[in-house]
Parts: sequence; C-alpha cells; structure tokens
Amino acid sequence: MGSKSQEKKGGHSGRVVIELKDVWKSYVMGEATVHALKGISFAVHQGEFVSIVGKSGSGKTTAVNQIGCLDTPSQGEIILDGHKVSTLTESELAQIRGKKIGYIFQKFNLVKTLSSLENVELPMVFQGVPVDERKERAQKLLEEFDMGEKLINKPSELSGGQQQRVAIARALANEPDIILADEPTGNLDSKTGIVVMNYLSMLHSQGKTIILVTHDDKLSQCAERLITLVDGKIIKDEHNPHPLTLSK
Ligand SMILES: Nc1ncnc2c1ncn2[C@@H]1O[C@H](COP(=O)(O)OP(=O)(O)OP(=O)(O)O)[C@@H](O)[C@H]1O
Ligand SMILES: [Mg+2]
Repeated sequence: MGSKSQEKKGGHSGRVVIELKDVWKSYVMGEATVHALKGISFAVHQGEFVSIVGKSGSGKTTAVNQIGCLDTPSQGEIILDGHKVSTLTESELAQIRGKKIGYIFQKFNLVKTLSSLENVELPMVFQGVPVDERKERAQKLLEEFDMGEKLINKPSELSGGQQQRVAIARALANEPDIILADEPTGNLDSKTGIVVMNYLSMLHSQGKTIILVTHDDKLSQCAERLITLVDGKIIKDEHNPHPLTLSK
C-alpha cells in the first residue's frame, strides 16, 4: 500500500493526521488465535472523508478501534498527528482521545440517566471546560443538529435518529479534528440514515477528517476514498472521483 496511500488525494490540506503501519490485531481464544487485522497500512490526510468497507467480521471495527486508541495493536504502529501512540503516556493518550477524536457508534452509547444537554456536556466536563461555557456550547451544538427542542429529554424519550444526532453533537463537543463513525446509521431507518449521512458530509465540508465504517455500498459512496477489508487485510484502497450526495 505504502507510497500509493501517501499520495495527496481530494481537496484536503495534505497533512497526514492518521497513519497505520503494518498493524496486526490478534485475539487468543484458548487454543485458537483469531487474526482480526493482518498487517494493515494506510495514511489519512487532514480533511479526507474515508470509508472503510467490508463484510461482517472483516475487521472494520477492530481497525477503527485501533485508530481511536480504544484498543492497542498486537503489532505495528499507529501515528496520530505525528505522535507514535505506543510511546504516549496514559494521560497524553486520554488527551488525544478526548480532544482530537470524536466517536459516533452504531448503538449511540449515550448515558441513559443524562439529558441530551448533559450528554453533550460530558466530554467537556472531562476536558475541564467551565460550566457556563460548556452549557452554552452544548446547547448551540444541539440546535445545529435540530435538537434544540429536546435539550432536557433523556435518551429513552428520543427516537433513534434523534439519539444519533445527540451522539454526533457529543462527538463534536471538544471540536475534534477527526470523526470516527462505526456504522452510525446501522440502527436507523434509511431516511433517518440519510439525514445522519448528510450531517457527516456537512462536517467533511467544514474541514473535518471523517472515517466512516459501513457495509452499506450506497453510503460508502459518499466518501472520497474507499478502503476495502477482506479477512483482516486491505484488498483495495481507491479514490472515489464522484462522491455521492444523498437526497431524501
Ligand atoms: N474481543 C474479541 N475477541 C475475540 N475475537 C474478536 C474480538 N473482537 C473481534 N473479534 C474477531 O475479529 C474479527 C473482526 O471483527 P470486527 O468486529 O472488527 O469485524 P467487523 O468488520 O466490524 O464486522 P461487523 O460488520 O459485523 O461489525 C471477527 O472474526 C471477530 O470475531
Ligand atoms: Mg463492526
């Protein structure tokens, strides 16, 4: 993959923000060892919109969890914004996770006992943002995602699409450069999924780096680059010259 994946693609700034070098992830299950990732390498530039595609079990979530520092590789190196992740201290890692990366998950992962506003405030609490500032920023973000009417509602009082919009607002709370979205539309009907996808495209147009995991061929076409995994290996890494814009 090496030099090809280093090429400048699309309308991004050219600065490499994520780099994976020969990353392996193996799980020992009693006698057997499962190799979820078998030496994957690629580089992502600031502002790129990349989709990771592949069948169930091909290693997409494992790959994204390594990028997001939610898990550590068995072998190989992850470099985030020029920092070798393996050499960072726990507190430096927490800083990167909290400040540089926003996470969006298939199951939303909102805190059930907190309101929309409090869920969006939470990452800012961890970063020590003063209370007035974080409440104001959380409200503004929720309003941007048309959730201004649901500030005090808890996740159980929201539809799936509304919960995912709260989760996107939360992912953006600390103004991260990188958004990792693992099947963000997996629990949504197709119409609501399109709304969420259009928000991701909007964030891309604002200069965010987006890594989207999906096994939906149509949604993956919204990205400007497609990386295909088969059985823990990258079999294709291609530029998409005509990213799709979805309409309702
Ligand atoms: N914690 C774990 N322990 C053991 N095996 C695991 C673990 N996590 C993942 N695997 C295995 O690693 C492989 C890749 O899993 P992964 O979750 O990355 O796939 P995926 O491409 O995200 O699939 P899906 O589309 O179903 O979400 C699978 O064979 C899975 O069973
Ligand atoms: Mg997965």
